[in-house]
Formats: sequence, C-alpha cells, structure tokens
Amino acid sequence: MDAVGAVDPFIELDGVEKVFEVRRKTGFMRRERHRVRAVDSISFTVARGEMVGYIGPNGAGKSTTIKMLTGILTPSAGRLRVAGIEPSRERTRLAHRIGVVFGQRTTLWWDLPLIDSYRLMHRMYRIPDARYRENLDRLVELLELGSLLDVPVRQLSLGQRMRGDIVAALLHDPEVLYLDEPTIGLDVVSKAKVREFLRQLNAERATTVLLTTHDLQDIEQLCSRVMVIDHGRLVYDGALAGLHESGESERTLVVDLARELPPIDAPPPARVVRVEGPRQWLAFPASESAAGLVARIAAEYPLVDLSVREPDIEAVIAKMLHGDSHGKEVGRPVP
Ligand SMILES: Nc1ncnc2c1ncn2[C@@H]1O[C@H](COP(=O)(O)OP(=O)(O)OP(=O)(O)O)[C@@H](O)[C@H]1O
Ligand SMILES: [Mg+2]
Repeated sequence: MDAVGAVDPFIELDGVEKVFEVRRKTGFMRRERHRVRAVDSISFTVARGEMVGYIGPNGAGKSTTIKMLTGILTPSAGRLRVAGIEPSRERTRLAHRIGVVFGQRTTLWWDLPLIDSYRLMHRMYRIPDARYRENLDRLVELLELGSLLDVPVRQLSLGQRMRGDIVAALLHDPEVLYLDEPTIGLDVVSKAKVREFLRQLNAERATTVLLTTHDLQDIEQLCSRVMVIDHGRLVYDGALAGLHESGESERTLVVDLARELPPIDAPPPARVVRVEGPRQWLAFPASESAAGLVARIAAEYPLVDLSVREPDIEAVIAKMLHGDSHGKEVGRPVP
C-alpha cells in the first residue's frame, strides 16, 4: 500500500467487486445465465495529487473500475469513495469534482462545432463565466485547438478529437481526472503533446490522475506508481521500475544488415533471438541503454537500418505472472 495514499486518500477502494450477469446462447432457443467477475475484491487508495497508471491485459477490469469510480456502474460488493463521495449514490455531485476521458468514445456532440460542446458544458456544470473563459483559453492554448474550435467534431482527426475531449473533461476544474486510454490510436507527435499536457496539469494544478493505457511509454513518462490488474485482481502496486524487475523485461533491437549473416556476436546479456534474412532481432535488458549495443554493431557489421521495440505492458505482465516471455511487441522507431 502506498504510504502517501494512506495519509490523504482521495480515492479509496476496499474489497470492491463487480459481477456482471450475462446471458449466453448455448443452443437453439437455449440461453444460459452466467456470471462474469470483472472486478474481484480490489483495494487501493490514491492520494490527492498522485498520478497513477492502471494497467493490465484486455478484459482485466480496468474500464469497469473506472466506470465504478465515476458512478456509471454500481459495485456488487465493497466500499468505494472518491473525495469522500460514494460515486453511484451521488453521481451528479461527484460529476462536479471529476473529469473523465474515454479514449474509445467521445463525450463531445458529434455534429456540433467543438466550441458548442464547450458552451453546453459551461451551462451543464454551471461553471462561473470568468472561470470558464479562463479555463477555456488556457486549455485551448495548451492543447493547440485554437484553429479547430469552429470545426464540427465529426470532421476532427482522432488526435484532435482526443485533445478536444481532454479540454471538455477539464473545463470545470475537476480535482481528479480519469483517463481510459487517452493516447490510443494517436501518432507520436500527438501522444507527446497529450503527455506533456498531463504532466503540466499534474505539476501545476496537483490534479489527481488515474491513467489506463496499453502504452508502456505513457506510464514511463508520467507515472511514478503503477497498479496492475489481471482477471479483476490487483496483482501489483508500486514503482514501474519494480514491475520491470519482477518481469525482467527486455527491449528488442531490430537491425537490418546489408546482407544475410550469421547471428551477431553481441555482448551478453544481449543476444540474438531471431534471424530472418538480413534482419536480426536482439534482446537486451529494458533497464539498459541501446546506445552501446548499437555502436558496437555499427562498428563491426554492415548496418543499414535499426529500430528499438519497447516491451509492451502485456509482455511485462505476462512475464511477471507466468514467467512467459512471449507477448506482442509494440515498435518504436529510433530517430
Ligand atoms: N456491461 C457488461 N456486461 C457484461 N460483461 C461486461 C460488461 N462490461 C465489461 N464486461 C466484462 O468484464 C470484463 C472486464 O472488462 P473491462 O472492460 O473492464 O476490461 P478492460 O481491462 O478495460 O479491458 P481493455 O483493455 O480491453 O479495455 C470483461 O470480461 C468484459 O467482457
Ligand atoms: Mg477498457
């Protein structure tokens, strides 16, 4: 348990569960009732001003947790408080204190210009005029949306829409921001903008941030603390470095040589894990820089091109849970 969180818990979960009843078709005219335990006895606290990553494989229960934290879903069991409020009982009162961004769908009005959505929020949240103006100006500038305010949301690119959604979530000065995959589908530049903005928001306004993502770099760059959920259970809560250690995660250097050659003689613990024609894959510890390895290969081999692949969260978690090194890899080209 986090020491700071214990002092001033802003978000508190104690033995929280969510069980869904689903009907499954099992044959002609036959349906079976079946229970899915999406969140299974989760307890944690988050202190005011913390920025925490909430990660785990598909279907782990992350979005379900966030929906309970906003009051959209009611827990099946356990105790849950955000700013002292029980979300599902006082959803409207809580709404004034939280902001939510679901990367997968927008809270903006699809056919209206961006600015009209903001005007509607101004009224819905009864934001004082001066505060609304000030927040709108600041957020629009920080997220570079000035030229897009009159564009209907449906005409925005994914990255523009996402930034638009982040502004919408923050117009009423929430104390906590839940982000459910805010960088999904964004290009490198847009991701960097969103991350820089979140870092600033957290540093300057002490906004508490709970961030769900499949991009390990989001976590690396933003969160000192990470919680891992798997099959509805909290399996890790601590520093990202500790997660890497327990997962012994590795990055992969992919090199293209001028021609097909025997496996590169790499300095251990780096080693060649795959060869395909002139392309070779080398695994090396995620905690080490790729520079030394690259320099050495470049000096001794006809190097044409290279890229470094980060371990993705699923791979790190899989290793941590099962000692399994197989997992998808998410590529990140080296400039
Ligand atoms: N409304 C619902 N009715 C029935 N089952 C649901 C419902 N919502 C979620 N589930 C189930 O609960 C489990 C957890 O889903 P959840 O959306 O919380 O996962 P997640 O961690 O957000 O995954 P992802 O990374 O894919 O977004 C899944 O097995 C899902 O099928
Ligand atoms: Mg989800």
